[in-house]
Amino acid sequence: MKAQVRTCLAIVLAAGEGTRMHSARPKVLHAVAGRSLLAHVLSAVADARIAATAVVIGPKQTDVAAAAKRVLPGARIFVQRQRKGTAHAVVAAKAAIERHPDDVLVVYGDTPLIRPATLERLRAPLANGAAVAVLAFRPADAKGYGRLITSGDELIAIREEADASARERAIDLCNGGIMALAGNSALTILKRIGNDNRKREFYLTDAVEIARGMRLRAVAVEVEEDEVRGINTKTQLAEAEAVAQQRLRKAALDAGVTLVAPETVFLSADTKFGRDVVVEPYVVFGEKVRVDDGAVIRSFSHLVGAHVGKGALVGPFARLRPGTRLGEGAHIGNFVEVKEAVVQAGAKANHLSYIGDATIGAGSNIGAGTITCNYDGAAKHRTEIGKGVFIGSNSALVAPVKIGAGAYVGSGSVITDNVPAGALALGRGRQVNKRGRGARLRALKSLGKKKAQSPD
Ligand code: UD1
Ligand code: CA
Repeated sequence: MKAQVRTCLAIVLAAGEGTRMHSARPKVLHAVAGRSLLAHVLSAVADARIAATAVVIGPKQTDVAAAAKRVLPGARIFVQRQRKGTAHAVVAAKAAIERHPDDVLVVYGDTPLIRPATLERLRAPLANGAAVAVLAFRPADAKGYGRLITSGDELIAIREEADASARERAIDLCNGGIMALAGNSALTILKRIGNDNRKREFYLTDAVEIARGMRLRAVAVEVEEDEVRGINTKTQLAEAEAVAQQRLRKAALDAGVTLVAPETVFLSADTKFGRDVVVEPYVVFGEKVRVDDGAVIRSFSHLVGAHVGKGALVGPFARLRPGTRLGEGAHIGNFVEVKEAVVQAGAKANHLSYIGDATIGAGSNIGAGTITCNYDGAAKHRTEIGKGVFIGSNSALVAPVKIGAGAYVGSGSVITDNVPAGALALGRGRQVNKRGRGARLRALKSLGKKKAQSPD
């Protein structure tokens, strides 16, 4: 017989400013691998197939609510009016708990590395009759974490560091900050939690002792430190970033991407690679980048919001900004910046260019030093270049401007008018050669030098 699927409510605690981050930004909106801490937690919850999610935010934290809705549009938002502790925050979502889920999973919004499978593992003891299950770990440095007091398999209590005796502080098994509570006793337990401690806060961690007082069972489920790193400081944020990068690099390698020097490549949680992609050392992938099959990203390139087509070649030293779309086999070379631009199949801009708000037709060649002058100081304008166009080096294309298919623009041109298809456009001063004048000029100058050096 198939076991009945237990319903689960996840409560994600995201209130508070995170004063120890020394930042104007709410703590859970700080990013790891280009995605907020909160978004990491919520996507783990979504992937753990948890149907109902409540997010607890602080007053006026509309930015936190909006970030939550972007990841999980169905999440219910609850406001904790005053920051009075983690148990108090859970009670803010009381209305959701009153809907009688089988399991209540409390996840702190500042533990971004948690994996969906671990959330499922933590719920397992509830199906076997436990009232409380806590994720435990043995950190390299236990400072700031609650300590778990155990006896065999039983979890007796969690002691917060501020309230722990010297002996309790020596315990290396710590609270990972993720707790599963059986739905049928959760509210009763939560209501009994008081604030008789150093910080005068309502600690969720007291749920363990209260459950035991009610003759209910509490257990600890141990996991690797990396999964439950809680982020209270910028140092911890950087440590979590390092772990996230390691995971992303490993996943890319496992999927067949060639990372020549993996430890020098920085990825985002949403970076997508096709087959046979090669990434040379020292490349940064910001948010929303997709690289299709066979493309090569050469060293020191920086990509954000870009789609690199099949077999395209980027860098070294290229910058692709949001809205860049490179077609099949396109080349973007050294010191070329591209923004809001479509570079169609086989088109090339190999050296020292700015291509912004533009379309470059298939097979066109953009000479070294060419700039699209997209901004007139007030508004942005587009440059439209047709197929098979040749733009000579060091040209300035003053937008809005259109250059027809097959046209040829002479080097050093400033193009302010549209160029018809197939035309030759020359937008520069005409060269004059004056016979013998070079030598005369030089003679005049050396005379001037001698005069300046003479004593009178
Ligand atoms: C908490 C645990 C500690 C555990 C550690 C793991 C408690 C009392 N302590 O400590 O045992 O080892 O996490 O990382 O639970 N929050 C609210 N409202 C509040 C207080 C907190 O929403 O009133 C949210 C915060 O935004 C944060 C999370 O709850 O995402 C945890 O709070 P935090 O202050 O970071 O707890 P720690 O001191 O790290
Ligand atoms: Ca924390």
